[in-house]
Amino acid sequence: MNTIVILLLCALVSSTSHAANLQEFCVADLKGPDSPSGYQCKPANRVTAQDFKCTLGPGISIPDNVKIYPCTVRQVHSLNGLGISAGRVEIEKGGSFPVHTHAANEILIMVKGEMTVGILTPTRAFVNRVKEGELVVIPDALQHYLVNSGNEKAVAYATYSSPNPRIDFLYQILFANNVSTATIAQTTFLEEPQVRRLKARFGGTN
Ligand SMILES: *[C@@H]1O[C@H](CO)[C@@H](O)[C@H](O)[C@H]1NC(C)=O
Repeated sequence: MNTIVILLLCALVSSTSHAANLQEFCVADLKGPDSPSGYQCKPANRVTAQDFKCTLGPGISIPDNVKIYPCTVRQVHSLNGLGISAGRVEIEKGGSFPVHTHAANEILIMVKGEMTVGILTPTRAFVNRVKEGELVVIPDALQHYLVNSGNEKAVAYATYSSPNPRIDFLYQILFANNVSTATIAQTTFLEEPQVRRLKARFGGTN
């Protein structure tokens, strides 16, 4: 009886110590190249507590009245190879986060205010108002937008099924290129003066 208990305890201790082994994760060495399987691992003796924490920097401003604070593998090096990441999204009153996709699934978790989240598909749009404490799922590759539909600044955290998710804005794809205004107008059903204005605003040419 006692022997069985001791054996079980030994098995438990060895399995938990195995799970806590430093070699079970691979903190990114950002000096090396990125690859589909992630960055190379930092030597274990150079891993620090800071590698597991996301400190919000000054944020990145994007139109329209949005600030994002990424917590990807570039900021939190321990996300390397884990297939997840996160970020904070702040939208000022009246602002909106333009139509975009990620190469990742997303869950958006509201922490303050209210956002209206629209997911666009070829046949239907799925639109939800989300308030503090609620969350919304945005499946991989679907075009979506966020609008601050409340009376104050809206704040959410987004989580992604990728350690390094891209944000591919539709406005950049359509208007930040050097394809001629005539061709963009013809292939988007927009008027040329509108295409010229959008190319000028978003850094496109021709
Ligand atoms: C657009 O840019 C590419 C390089 O990115 C260049 O090869 C091409 O000639 C440019 N086209 C025009 C119409 O300027």
